[in-house]
Amino acid sequence: MRDRISLEMEFLFEDTSQTTKEDLTSYFNELKDYLEHLIKVSKEPEYKYPESSINLPFDEKVLQKIVELKTEMVTPELKYILDIGIGGSNLGTKAIYDALYGYYDLLEPNRYPKMFFADTNDPKLLFKLQQFLNSSITKPEELLINAISKSGSTTETIVNLEIVLEKISYAKERLVVTTEQDSTLWKTAKKLDIRCIPIPEVVGGRFSVFSGVGLFPLAAAGVDIPKLLKGAMEARKHSLNDNYTKNWAFISAVASYSNYVKGKLIQDCFLFAPELESLGKWYRQLLGESLGKDGKGLTPTVSIGPTDLHSMGQLYAGGIKDKFFNLVSVEDYGVDVQVPRHPSLDTLTNIKEKTAGDVIDAILESVKITFQNRNIPFTHTKLEALNETSLAGFMQTKMIEVMFLGKLMQVDTFNQPDVEEYKKETRRILARA
Ligand code: PA5
Repeated sequence: MRDRISLEMEFLFEDTSQTTKEDLTSYFNELKDYLEHLIKVSKEPEYKYPESSINLPFDEKVLQKIVELKTEMVTPELKYILDIGIGGSNLGTKAIYDALYGYYDLLEPNRYPKMFFADTNDPKLLFKLQQFLNSSITKPEELLINAISKSGSTTETIVNLEIVLEKISYAKERLVVTTEQDSTLWKTAKKLDIRCIPIPEVVGGRFSVFSGVGLFPLAAAGVDIPKLLKGAMEARKHSLNDNYTKNWAFISAVASYSNYVKGKLIQDCFLFAPELESLGKWYRQLLGESLGKDGKGLTPTVSIGPTDLHSMGQLYAGGIKDKFFNLVSVEDYGVDVQVPRHPSLDTLTNIKEKTAGDVIDAILESVKITFQNRNIPFTHTKLEALNETSLAGFMQTKMIEVMFLGKLMQVDTFNQPDVEEYKKETRRILARA
């Protein structure tokens, strides 16, 4: 089925995902009440339900706060944004930043501001980061620090924030803390006169990219927030469509689930654009942490085409048949590069006058044929172009898809009790003398 909507993407599944019309009808009957619940949630703008994250893109108050803070803190002098957070507190931001700018940071050395993600306590990295901040920043306006932690108590994040606060004399002036209102971090930051952005209590980290968690650093980095929110709004509308034959979030959830029950326990997000690797990792967390509980779960993996065909292609096509693939590609790159009319090597004759885009398209097509010949199920999402609207449309669709999947798998999509356990253990071990 092909159904192009204003989301600026297209979702193909019919001939390739081994999902039948009967699957769609019977799973729709299972999910009908839940879809009605989501529609109800969408009509109540307050943050009352775990699913209320679907209302974030419509929240004028959040947008206003972001605009205010951006006006106050971002000037043309801004060169570096230091994003201190982990998991749901930084993966969505990184997905969008890398897709639009970050992957090219080395190739575009004069494009500012650049964002750096401090999401580990690796000693060497932190040492080099301190050196960089001390030697490369000539005035406070060149640096913006955003520390993000919903709980306000994640060790990795607080350690990095403490180090930055101690080592950078002006850090407090250039810091914005994003956390749950009334967390200890919120209270301390308020006491110290540090600017704060609240995260609604019911919105879980991996569903928070369209809250201040993602919107503030992305706005500071120059991302077009209205376009981003437009993509998310369109996707919500589409994903709550009760004509399920047109609802990609629902169809994609059914395709994953019907393959899962047939033993496809691994789900690979195979992205044919290297700048989308972080988007794949954001989705990996969303799927992994939302569904991996009570002895259940899909194991999400991320591949980049064509690069990973040369490391994983053999396994994917010829190995154990335990995988379901979500191919993601970009239709219009906005630019292209042509292979010379008279190649000097004259080794491959069929590439003459082809463009780089033609080559990627041919490789993608050949992967699809290879998979089909081997009966390997897959879906294919085509992003019309790589921009704010298509990225947000993809992300919002995936978040609602995972809500449907959690329902089908009968797990609590929104908790992460086993992550909390390691966090507590870390605090306990560090408290030992
Ligand atoms: O999705 C989640 O809930 C987690 O990945 C959290 O975002 C992550 O553990 C970081 O937690 P916090 O934002 O409380 O620092």
